Amino acid sequence: MLIKEKGKIISPYLISEFLHHSSLKKELINLIEETKIAKALTTKVNTVSKCDYDWSKDTTRLYFKKLINPLGDHLTKVFKHLGYDICEIKNLWFQRYLNNDIHDWHNHGACQWTGVYYLELPKDESLRTQAIHPFDQKSKIDMPVKEGDILIFPSHTLHRGARNKTNKKKIIISFNMDGVTTEAQYPEDYKTIKDMN
Ligand SMILES: [Fe+2]
Repeated sequence: MLIKEKGKIISPYLISEFLHHSSLKKELINLIEETKIAKALTTKVNTVSKCDYDWSKDTTRLYFKKLINPLGDHLTKVFKHLGYDICEIKNLWFQRYLNNDIHDWHNHGACQWTGVYYLELPKDESLRTQAIHPFDQKSKIDMPVKEGDILIFPSHTLHRGARNKTNKKKIIISFNMDGVTTEAQYPEDYKTIKDMN
């Protein structure tokens, strides 16, 4: 196949600070550590010691019930900033990384956006999410996140949780979303965005 030209794909990522993090952290971690409906994610290239992806649409999970309202409020503000009326969370799950765990390069299907909430993230740059830059599909971005942040990016973006070479534990809560604008009128930033074009 001859590819004549590779156009720029406008694919932003956005990092925001989850203001409920300090009040929710301890309880969410306890609920996740105690949960029985989870298992290891093990494939040829991936090892994640505990993960509940198979239950990602189950709204009866205790940590889900604790988190969903404050998270939904937060994401509504983030999506309004991006120009959408509504953020629809389609599913949500946790991943706990211990020493030597890895979730290698992948993307997420059947959704527009993917989010990561860094519930427990030691101050070690090697534990931050990495992405392939969607402008060239080659260079790597180390996402400048810290514990308590929420990162969102288009779900076609290739990304990974690189191998945890530390003895520290990392827990993330990930979720897939659609952004929906139901009104014909573009939100408040329209003029600014239009002026930039
Ligand atoms: Fe992912």
